[in-house]
Amino acid sequence: MDKQLDTLFFGLLMILLLSNCSPEKKQDTSGIRNEMKGRELVRVSDADLMAKGNELGLEIVKASQGTLQQALLGAIESEGLVGAVEYCNANAYDIVKTLEDSLDVKIKRVSQKPRNPLDEPDSVEGMILEAYAYDFSPTNAVNQILELDEKTLIFTQPIAIANGLCLNCHGTSGEQVKDEVLTVIKSKYPDDKALGYSLGELRGMWSVKIPKKTVVKSLTE
Ligand code: HEC
Repeated sequence: MDKQLDTLFFGLLMILLLSNCSPEKKQDTSGIRNEMKGRELVRVSDADLMAKGNELGLEIVKASQGTLQQALLGAIESEGLVGAVEYCNANAYDIVKTLEDSLDVKIKRVSQKPRNPLDEPDSVEGMILEAYAYDFSPTNAVNQILELDEKTLIFTQPIAIANGLCLNCHGTSGEQVKDEVLTVIKSKYPDDKALGYSLGELRGMWSVKIPKKTVVKSLTE
């Protein structure tokens, strides 16, 4: 995209995102509205719903990230980088899936340049990623909670190339990414796009879709 279009796009996106907190909506946040908790109708305010959604999102990402990171480090330690790629290929999805099922939410890591084609963003995720990518730096990266539709909230948190470890498998091939690692990446992920990153760059984001009734349930428990 050329710069002008890019700026226009970003402007539109910001309007779209900010319209979520337009003055009318803001007033409405102190108001009470009806939500379903399971099959029971309960009354909660918008502000409480969003705040609780944000809190749950943060907890879920922390747990998912912690579990994945521990698994990755364990695999590198016991099997080396090549073994760790194979391990991630076989297990990354199952690790997150277990958390998803126990919490009744949808958890994904998405990227504009995915390694696993399943990590391609959907259209809403694509817009949010585009906004994060605009002038990205790890220090100005913030998480967000938005209303996805009538029944669902979406929590997102950007993922940066936080340290040198990431570069072993997401850096420049032939330099940080060693040949034997590249070979296994190419064999497991023929459409891999997740190379060529440098430190501090945006790698992707966590996307957690939380049914409002899950949020309401934890608010009213
Ligand atoms: C041992 C190699 C290895 C290391 C080190 C590594 N990754 Fe990855 N990464 C992978 C593999 C393999 C996948 C694909 C996993 C799958 O199939 O779900 C992946 C996927 C991802 C994804 C999901 C999006 C996508 O491209 O599919 C993100 C985000 C990510 N890595 C970020 C990081 C960050 C940040 C670090 C450093 C903290 C890191 N990775 C370190 C191998 C690695």
